[in-house]
Amino acid sequence: MFDTLWKNLHIATMLPAAGQDTGYGIINNAAVGIKDGRIAWIGAAQELALPHENLAEYVLDGEGKWVTPGLIDCHTHLAYAGSRAQEFEQRLEGVSYEDIARAGGGIASTVRSVRETSEDKIFDQTLFRLLTLFRQGVTSFEIKSGYGLDLESERKLLRVATRLRDDYGFRLQRTFLGAHALPSEYKDRADDYIDLICETMLPTLAAEGLVDTVDAFCEHIAFSAGQVQRVFDKARALNLPVKLHAEQLSNLHGARLAAQYQALSADHLEYLDEDGIKAMKDSGTVAVLLPGAFYFLREKQLPPVDLLRRHGVPMAIATDHNPGTSPCLSLLLMLNMACTLFRLTPEEALAGATRNAARALGWQDNLGTLEIGKAADFVLWDISHPRDLCYVFGHNPAIGVVKDGEWHGFAG
Ligand code: NIG
Ligand code: FE
Repeated sequence: MFDTLWKNLHIATMLPAAGQDTGYGIINNAAVGIKDGRIAWIGAAQELALPHENLAEYVLDGEGKWVTPGLIDCHTHLAYAGSRAQEFEQRLEGVSYEDIARAGGGIASTVRSVRETSEDKIFDQTLFRLLTLFRQGVTSFEIKSGYGLDLESERKLLRVATRLRDDYGFRLQRTFLGAHALPSEYKDRADDYIDLICETMLPTLAAEGLVDTVDAFCEHIAFSAGQVQRVFDKARALNLPVKLHAEQLSNLHGARLAAQYQALSADHLEYLDEDGIKAMKDSGTVAVLLPGAFYFLREKQLPPVDLLRRHGVPMAIATDHNPGTSPCLSLLLMLNMACTLFRLTPEEALAGATRNAARALGWQDNLGTLEIGKAADFVLWDISHPRDLCYVFGHNPAIGVVKDGEWHGFAG
């Protein structure tokens, strides 16, 4: 006996066909039985005993709509204050992203806004962003800190994420990104700031239960591989998984370093080389591609998608929502850009926001595909094939989501 039986659906389970690592996993004329928030049965409706009314407390008619797993945005900086629209204008006048950062703008300007803004205000702004994504079928998120850069302000951002999880029920992973940029008070003292992270910020925030994973920005405008390694050593000592912003603007061999620490993911990766790819393959590290930042910075260097594919490194797609390089509130748009800009197939792009995004968060046992035992977490779409999610852009065909078995309709 199910709690709920959904019938009259077409389902893209995103489960790869046997022996393959691609495929939409389509089941036409399908049904899903839900028990205690989990998938208790999924398959072709004709395989179910009749009458369906005897199988569940509630039988719901999907009216022939399409279902995919709930989308997962596995790389975001959704908690922050302030806007960087002015820098967008500056860049249109010819100033580069790096020049703006070196002149005290960029990440540092968002840090100033975060330090000046109350937790409650940041909470409200972050809630708005999360809800915008949720209404497009995003049921799971990652949120990084990294715009506070001192103990108190990083705590503020991680508390916002924690409250959104605990008080509003958003499923989200909280990532400590203290090593995002050098705060101005540590100018020319990067190693001292890394000391502060390793000796005070990370252990304190972890002890307060505010940290699920640890990230860093390995780049010539941020931190060296050696400095990142110190942060990763501390994370390892605290039993926290790591991930890394790597090879975004140059190749500092961050992906290889991340792989040495069995990182969940290495992200951006425009300048990734084959050595890094092989290391990621060996460690099971997911390649998170971020077409929003590539597009918004008008990058020319494409991530090595063909090589990633050839080596069988799983690719995920995320918004990288942040005020500087990707002020984007549509994961669906990112799927389209992953296809048009990075040449992923629609099937790869959709897997990138479901199956592989779940892996990038270490949540693959519970999410990312629709199969018995996993969370009853899926989106109902008004589309005629799952590829439409990547094809149409600037449109939101989500009708509603089932999250942990519960229906949230978006009508009206
Ligand atoms: O993921 N790459 C580093 N961090 C952000 C950008 C941060 C900013 O400019 O505010 C990113 O793209
Ligand atoms: Fe990022």
